[in-house]
Amino acid sequence: MDVGFIGAGAITEAVVTGLCEARASALSILLSPRNRERSRNLSERYAAVEVAADNQQVVDRSEMVILAVRPQVAEAVLAALKFRPEQRVVSFIATLGSAEIRRRVRPALLAGRVAPVPPAAQRKGPIAMCPPNDQLAKFFDPIGTVIQVSDEAQLDAFFSVSALMAPYFELLESVSAWLRAQGVEAAQADTYTGSLFRAIAEKSTQPSGEGFAELVAEHATRAGINEQLRRELLAVGFYDQVHAGLDLIQARMQGRANYEDTLKKA
Ligand SMILES: NC(=O)c1ccc[n+]([C@@H]2O[C@H](COP(=O)([O-])OP(=O)(O)OC[C@H]3O[C@@H](n4cnc5c(N)ncnc54)[C@H](OP(=O)(O)O)[C@@H]3O)[C@@H](O)[C@H]2O)c1
Repeated sequence: MDVGFIGAGAITEAVVTGLCEARASALSILLSPRNRERSRNLSERYAAVEVAADNQQVVDRSEMVILAVRPQVAEAVLAALKFRPEQRVVSFIATLGSAEIRRRVRPALLAGRVAPVPPAAQRKGPIAMCPPNDQLAKFFDPIGTVIQVSDEAQLDAFFSVSALMAPYFELLESVSAWLRAQGVEAAQADTYTGSLFRAIAEKSTQPSGEGFAELVAEHATRAGINEQLRRELLAVGFYDQVHAGLDLIQARMQGRANYEDTLKKA
C-alpha cells in the first residue's frame, strides 16, 4: 500500500520507524519534506521511505494520507491540498475533531482519527482509534496495542491521558533529583529511578478489566511506607489534581479550553 504522511515530525518518525522495523509487507511510504532533516534521515535508513517534493505530491501518490502536522498549521496546510474522492485520510491531529477534518479533506474519506504514541517506534504502547475500522486496525497492529472505540469523546479521553507522558518523566526527574539531594551519585540516582519505574510499570501490562486496585494492595504493606505515602498523597489531593488536569486537557481536546488555560482557572 502507498501511504503518505503530511508532516514529518516526532510522531511520524516514531510510526514510520515502527512500521519499517516491523517489516510491514508491501508498504511504500512517502513523506512530506518537512521536517527536511527528519524525512531525509528516515529515507536514508529505510528503503520503503521516500521524500516527496511537496505536500500535494504526497496526496497525489498515496492511497492513504496520514495527517501529522500540528493543529495550528492544519487549516492552512489542508486548504492548499486537493484530495481525490477514493482517497482515505487518517488524522493523528489531537485537537481536531472528525467533523472538522472531514470538511477540510473533502472529497476524500476520513478513515479515522488515530492516537499513536512515541513508543510506536519500538512497536509498543497503545494506539487508540475512532471509529472502529478493521483494515486500519490491521495496519497499526504491528506497532502497538490497538484500542478501537465508536464514541469520539472516548478517543479524546485517550488522547488526554497520553498527555501524561511528559508529566510522568517529570516525576522521574523529580525523584532522581530528590535522590541526588540525599547525596546519591547522579548515575545511581537515575539507574535506581528508571529501574524501579520500569519494573513496576511492567506489572500493569496484563489488564484484568478490574482496574489496578489489586496492584495497589499488593504494593502497600499494612502500616508500611507505601501505604503511608499513598495515604498522604490521597489526603492532599494529588490524584484529584491529576483528574482535574485530565479534565482540562479533555476540555482543550474538545475546543472548550486552550493552551493558555490553567488548572487554577479551569
Ligand atoms: N508527539 C506525539 O506523541 C503525538 C501523538 C499523537 C498525535 N500527535 C499529533 O501529531 C501531530 C504532530 O505532532 P508531532 O509531535 O509530530 O509534532 P512535530 O514534531 O512538531 O511535527 C510536526 C511536523 O509538521 C511539519 N510541518 C509544519 N508545517 C508544515 C507544512 N506546511 N507542511 C508539512 N509539514 C509541516 C513540521 O516541520 P518543521 O519542523 O519544518 O516545522 C514538523 O516536522 C500533532 O497534531 C499532534 O497532536 C502527536
